[in-house]
Amino acid sequence: MYELRCIECRERYAPEEIIFTCKKCNGLLEVWMNLSEIEVKREELEKRMFGVWRYREFLPVGKKTKIITLQEGGTPLYKAENLSKELGVELYIKNEGANPTGSFKDRGMTLGVTKAIELKAKAVGCASTGNTSASLAAYAAKAGIKCFVLLPAGKIALGKLAQAILHGAVVIGIRGNFDVALKLIREASQKFNIYLLNSINPWRLEGQKTEAYEIIDQLVFEVPDRVVVPVGNCGNISAIWKGFKEFYEYGFINELPIMTGIQAEKASPVVKAFKEGKDKISPIEKPETIATAIRIGKPVNAPKALRAIRESRGYAESCTDEEIIEAQKLLARKEGIGVEPASATSIAGVIKLIDEGIIDKGERVVCITTGHALKDPEIVFSRYEKPIEIEPDIEALSSIITK
Ligand code: F0G
Repeated sequence: MYELRCIECRERYAPEEIIFTCKKCNGLLEVWMNLSEIEVKREELEKRMFGVWRYREFLPVGKKTKIITLQEGGTPLYKAENLSKELGVELYIKNEGANPTGSFKDRGMTLGVTKAIELKAKAVGCASTGNTSASLAAYAAKAGIKCFVLLPAGKIALGKLAQAILHGAVVIGIRGNFDVALKLIREASQKFNIYLLNSINPWRLEGQKTEAYEIIDQLVFEVPDRVVVPVGNCGNISAIWKGFKEFYEYGFINELPIMTGIQAEKASPVVKAFKEGKDKISPIEKPETIATAIRIGKPVNAPKALRAIRESRGYAESCTDEEIIEAQKLLARKEGIGVEPASATSIAGVIKLIDEGIIDKGERVVCITTGHALKDPEIVFSRYEKPIEIEPDIEALSSIITK
């Protein structure tokens, strides 16, 4: 059994209701699952294919529902041995760039688009800084349903824009930032019966909570000390925390990790609210960062993220664009893992928090890297060394090799 509940006033709503905020108090909604009805053993889970649907009993879809899947999840958890030595912590990388469309959004979309079909939606839509639109476009294609995506014009990394076009979404550039685009699609989704698949949709987050389940699975049911997550619209960190809490409540684990959210300096309303001890963020009207995925000033799920951080006795910090690029380079060149800038904020955050004494030496830390490097090739061309071009002769080549 599952239902929707308001995180503020606990009002309940039936799962069939298409609703994204509480009718009584306008609070955010979350899916409540009756875990006491679930009966599944660890050994049973371990027999199944590794990925989102391994945890079928914990996912709120009807028993007979047709699942729209591209075999998402099951991403690697790398032990970052070189960086661990350098930083003095036990560092793991949960590489969400290895998902079908190259980001963690696929976990949300398999659930979200399955739900859309279950609810007999004729079209789906979202606003996006890029990855959500790429993922939704692919899952809508698989489901054979129409897809509308609203993107801040000129501010989307090239790879993501290409994906949305490739998968046949109706791609609409908005002269404004993500926050403006989200407001517009929320209005349009009500007016035109488009099923909204931004992270304000609580069903989508149910897919993303499997990031936590998989980390536990991959650490052989041990719990890391800390999980570090890049934060934009605040859905993912909230979903991951929910996943850990559910495995705790179910009895698979008997402790919980510390959640740590990292934002880009000029788009960090959550960090500001956290440090000032506030429950509500003050919106940033003109967020700016090279990590375009998290160029967000009014994160809709901020109350959920702030709770996740506080409940877990966690922390929030911001990093400059320079620190983000340095971290991206470090991960690429010390560990062979290519991630987009937003993802590198988790590594940049760890480095900073070690310096600040927030992260202790020897801690077991899992960084979530949210999107693949190929999403944003332009950043490499503009911020890294240029390739060398020479005449095709051995003299010219040797001058470079022996330099
Ligand atoms: N990292 C990447 C690569 C993202 O694309 C996003 C969000 C985040 C981190 C932050 O996650 O919003 O759940 O806090 N991208 C959204 C999008 C906003 O439209 O693709 P969040």
